[in-house]
Amino acid sequence: MNSPTKITVIGLGYLGATHAAAMAEMGFEVLGLDIVPEKTEELARGRSPIYEPGLEDLLRRHVAGLPDSTGRLSFTTSWADLAAFGDVHFICVNTPQRAGEYACDMSYVEAAVESLAPHLDRPALVVGKSTVPVGSAARLTRRLVELAPAGEAAELAWNPEFLREGYAVEDTLRPDRIVAGCPSERAETLLREVYARPIAAGSPFLVTDLPTAELVKSAANAFLSTKISFINAMAEICEAADGDVVMLAEALGHDDRIGKKFLQAGIGFGGGCLPKDIRAFMARAGELGVADAVSFLREIDSINMRRRGAMVELTKETLGGTLLGKRVAVLGAAFKPDSDDVRDSPALNIAGQLHLQGAQVTVFDPKANENARRVFPTLRYAGTAIEAAEHADAVLHLTPWRAFRELDPEAVGEVVAERRILDGRNTLDPELWRKAGWTYRALGRPTA
Ligand code: UDX
Repeated sequence: MNSPTKITVIGLGYLGATHAAAMAEMGFEVLGLDIVPEKTEELARGRSPIYEPGLEDLLRRHVAGLPDSTGRLSFTTSWADLAAFGDVHFICVNTPQRAGEYACDMSYVEAAVESLAPHLDRPALVVGKSTVPVGSAARLTRRLVELAPAGEAAELAWNPEFLREGYAVEDTLRPDRIVAGCPSERAETLLREVYARPIAAGSPFLVTDLPTAELVKSAANAFLSTKISFINAMAEICEAADGDVVMLAEALGHDDRIGKKFLQAGIGFGGGCLPKDIRAFMARAGELGVADAVSFLREIDSINMRRRGAMVELTKETLGGTLLGKRVAVLGAAFKPDSDDVRDSPALNIAGQLHLQGAQVTVFDPKANENARRVFPTLRYAGTAIEAAEHADAVLHLTPWRAFRELDPEAVGEVVAERRILDGRNTLDPELWRKAGWTYRALGRPTA
């Protein structure tokens, strides 16, 4: 049965497109808005502008006008239509890093409130999901009340998202927790209604104030980045002391206070969230006069960025001290597997550095070749891993797609110039490659 509460979603990127489709799946009538008409047009045809497993299935099931769909999901570029349609409006626009600064760019969030509010002439709940500096929600609330004809009947809640790319549909339908920064009981009641399904299925629903809700997201991403940089710092020590960081991580992970997850050493974290979120967190802490509280994040960032350089150095060393004229195959361009996202991708960054130092680089990614080509048009792109590896002096494994783990070292070995594999993610089986006559090198692991 359809719910009488109608939902709108503003911003249809990784977060918004998934949220809109998931809300339709949960039984709501949903209207999505994006300021880019090509995006809404593509979505209205049931096609996802991004690669996210399971998303197109949801779109096909719910987008209005498609054969056999529930018709619950539609798209628009009109703010007036959006306000007329919805009771609950989710803001899912991005907050990228500002050019030349650590702080994040709030202009898309601000524009969303400025555009929507003048049309809100009846009670409505606006819910922020974008990652913002703490204090933003209070400021946006004042602006909303000022601009909305409904005045204080237009409320603002904060409900951060924690979805992981590649698992966005799963994380949205079955969140591990729902954090709701609620200014009133009415806001809480509405959000409980919106999330009735996952709450009934056991997702914890945590009600809090606006600043805490905003902070949960920054703190979670700071913690996750710290965990990754911690193990990468241990990899640096292992490299100097002939230790094995993979074994070290496994042994640490058995302590359930530490846990196994997010201890995968390699070329570090990237993407549209972790790097910019820790920087924005440092910038905001500075504004609040508590910069020292998170100054360790500068070290986390710097450990992370060093790993990219370390991978370039390892490649150079393996190739006899120079990259000039060497052919390098790069497997992976996305910042993580099961995604076509190349924003701040360590893999693509390394491919670019190798190219700039004179190597002939051929990249293959199962989903991200096109996005990568737009960022680095000067690299070569291949249609398969084997094609990328043809005549290579070294093969670099930089995004841990399952398909790369399943490569046959013998088959790849037949096309390369030299059997040298460098594992930037520590997910290949060194024994398998060494047995097939490959020189296997990895960050934080012994050479032989
Ligand atoms: C992250 C958070 O996990 C998510 O909760 C938040 O909402 C948005 O930011 P995402 O950017 O999709 O999600 O990626 P995540 O899975 O966290 O991985 C981030 C990066 O860290 C990737 O580049 C990944 O390859 C790298 N990583 C992850 C490691 O290098 N080692 C690990 O052990 C785990």
